[in-house]
Amino acid sequence: MATEAEIAAMRRAIVLSSSGGEATHPNPNVGALVLDASGAVVGEGWHEQAGGPHAEVLALRRAGERARGGTVVVTLEPCAHTGRTGPCTEALLAAGVGRVVYAAADETALAGGGAQVLGQGGVDVEAGVLRREAERANERWLTRVRDQRPFVVWKVAATLDGRVAAEDGTSRWVSSDESRRDAHRLRSECDTIVAGVGTVLADDPHLTVRDQDGSLVGEQPLRVVVDSSGRTPRSARVLDDAAPTWVATAAELGSGTNGGVDLGALMKALWSRERTLVLLEGGPTLAGAFVRAGLVDRVVAYFAPTLLGAGAPVLSGTGVGTLAEGIGLDFDDVRRVGPDVRVTARLRRQEG
Ligand SMILES: NC(=O)c1ccc[n+]([C@@H]2O[C@H](COP(=O)([O-])OP(=O)(O)OC[C@H]3O[C@@H](n4cnc5c(N)ncnc54)[C@H](OP(=O)(O)O)[C@@H]3O)[C@@H](O)[C@H]2O)c1
Repeated sequence: MATEAEIAAMRRAIVLSSSGGEATHPNPNVGALVLDASGAVVGEGWHEQAGGPHAEVLALRRAGERARGGTVVVTLEPCAHTGRTGPCTEALLAAGVGRVVYAAADETALAGGGAQVLGQGGVDVEAGVLRREAERANERWLTRVRDQRPFVVWKVAATLDGRVAAEDGTSRWVSSDESRRDAHRLRSECDTIVAGVGTVLADDPHLTVRDQDGSLVGEQPLRVVVDSSGRTPRSARVLDDAAPTWVATAAELGSGTNGGVDLGALMKALWSRERTLVLLEGGPTLAGAFVRAGLVDRVVAYFAPTLLGAGAPVLSGTGVGTLAEGIGLDFDDVRRVGPDVRVTARLRRQEG
């Protein structure tokens, strides 16, 4: 059983883990603390960037001799392989650590197996401490290694009564300038933007990252139009040379069980191209198909202070027929963005 000091240390390690941000890609975010034999914190570290030392190694360096006989608390199972840096298991054994407490198992074939190596080396190992919290802090990496697909954020702007377009089809600028700016920030954090051909035909969106004046900023994400039969018109703005665009067709990816492009194959193809964060920008038909296929991880929804009472809903075709089948969410954040309200939520997963 982990002690209270170890659990508190794990909480701190989870906070530290996120300090590496995107710089650790394609590695995970990891945080670690060293407790001396009396339980006092004597070293902290986090994986700062890919190719750099791992969290445990940095924390051990800071602890020095005080690590001997102590405990290392780390958010991910220590690695047992030599990559750009040496195995963490070796560093832990060399430091004379008596106990290792970790949160989540490293399921990669390459780096996994660390717990076993440590156990064989006489170290007392405890796994699974605050696992769920640690996994949340590493969700993009886990989606990549466990599900072998990019992490998917579905972004939608709607009226308070959940309409993305009015009955007559008018739909542009449902939300405010402030929300659109916020959405451009979201786009800038993603490497891929996905939209359905229905949205391309209705709105002719550009799907680029732009500043307030409309000028392109930074490296542009890949634009993907999901379009079974290649209906995207040649004149579509999404096909200009402002950013790369992939019109993903059923001829290329095959058809899904509910018709349309096979979305699992699309995700796998993006994963093979090392895409890690997809912003799904709808519309309702494509978003419904993503939700139905279990391919949405997070929702960012902007609600404008407008009521329509008719028009396209935020989502359709999820296959949910009764309340008990409703897809559960956890709200992570709710805030005002200009006159709108932005809700950030995560879809509940079946816990493994
Ligand atoms: N407010 C917002 O945030 C927002 C965002 C986006 C869109 N919208 C609005 O949404 C409306 C368009 O939405 P929409 O539902 O008509 O179109 P959509 O969801 O953008 O695209 C749906 C189309 O994608 C194609 N598709 C290919 N593979 C698919 C798959 N596996 N599953 C589902 N669809 C697949 C299908 O056409 P094919 O069979 O021809 O391939 C399908 O008809 C517009 O009014 C637009 O303004 C609003």
